[in-house]
Amino acid sequence: MHKPPEFHDRMLSLGLARVSEAAAIASAKLIGRGDEKAADQAAVDAMRTQLNQLEIQGVVVIGEGERDEAPMLYIGEEVGSGEGPAVDIALDPLEGTTLTAKDMPNALAVIAMGPRGSMLHAPDTYMRKLAIGPGYEDGVVTLAMSPTERVQALAKAKGCEPWNITVCVLERPRHEDMIAELRATGCAIRLITDGDVAGVMHCAEPDQTGIDMYMGDGGAPEGVLAAAALKCMGGQIFGQLLFRNDDERGRAAKAGITDLDRIYTRDEMVTGDVIFAATGVTDGSLLPGIKREVGYLTTETLLMRSKTGSVRRMSYRNPRD
Ligand code: FBP
Repeated sequence: MHKPPEFHDRMLSLGLARVSEAAAIASAKLIGRGDEKAADQAAVDAMRTQLNQLEIQGVVVIGEGERDEAPMLYIGEEVGSGEGPAVDIALDPLEGTTLTAKDMPNALAVIAMGPRGSMLHAPDTYMRKLAIGPGYEDGVVTLAMSPTERVQALAKAKGCEPWNITVCVLERPRHEDMIAELRATGCAIRLITDGDVAGVMHCAEPDQTGIDMYMGDGGAPEGVLAAAALKCMGGQIFGQLLFRNDDERGRAAKAGITDLDRIYTRDEMVTGDVIFAATGVTDGSLLPGIKREVGYLTTETLLMRSKTGSVRRMSYRNPRD
C-alpha cells in the first residue's frame, strides 16, 4: 500500500504562514465595522481556500465547530490537496471576532499543524487554563493551587514579590471571585475582554508583554491552540475541560474523551511536534496588526516550529485591490 510522505515541518511552515496571512488580510476590511459575523466569515473563507492549496492530507481537529453548526472548517473536515503527509490541523481563522469588529487589541488569525494524532481533539466546551512562560521548574504552579498560592509560588520562583507579578485574566462575571482573590495578593491584573490564545502566548514573552501568568476559564479549542503555541515558544500550560450539561459531555464522548476530570499538560494536549502561525489582525502587544498604506496591506506573522523552538517574525507586504 502507498505510504503517505512524512510530516516535513520545515517545508510546510512557509505555507502555513501564508494561510494565517490570508485569513488576516481577508478580515482587514472589516476591522472596526461592528460586524463580527462578516469578519469571521471572510477569515474562514480565505483560510480554507489557502489551506486547500497546501500539499497535505489534512483533517481539522480544532475548527469552527461541529459539522452541523459550521459549514466550513468544521471538526473532521478534510483539507489540503489530498496529496502529501497526513496531518492534523487546529485553527481559528479569527481569534477575537469582537475585538476585530470593535477594533480592539490582540485579534489574531491562528493555525497549528502536526502529524496525524498529535493534538487533543478538544470538544467545543470551556476549559480551565493556567499558563506561565519558559524558565520555570515543571509544576511550579498547578491548577490544584489556589490563585493566591499560584501568585506566591511564581513570585518566589521569579525572585520577586507578588506585587511584581502580572496575571492576565478574561474579564467575565465567572471570574469575579478569582479576580478579587488575586487583587488581595497585591499582584497586577491585565484584564482582557476576549482572545485568550493571545493571553496565554503573552506569558512566553514577559519582558515584551509584561504578563507572567494566565489563568481562568475560556474555550477548550483555544486551549489546544495556546498549548501548540507554547510548545514552540516554551512555557507551561495546564487545561481541564469543564462541562455544563449532558450535551457538552456528549461532545467530549464524541471526541473520544473518557476521563472527564483529567488535567492535561501542554505535552498531553499537543503530543507531537507542531508548526504554528499567528498573524496580527489588530494591533497588540505580541504582534502589530494589519497596516493599511496606499496600495498595500502589510501583515506581521509569528511562525514557529516546536522541533527547533525557532520563532520567526515575518513581515508581508501585499498589493491591495
Ligand atoms: P471568538 O473569537 O470566537 O469570539 O472567541 C473569543 C474568546 O474570547 C476566546 O479567546 C475565549 O477562549 C472565548 O472567547 C471565551 O468565551 P466566552 O466569551 O464565552 O467567555
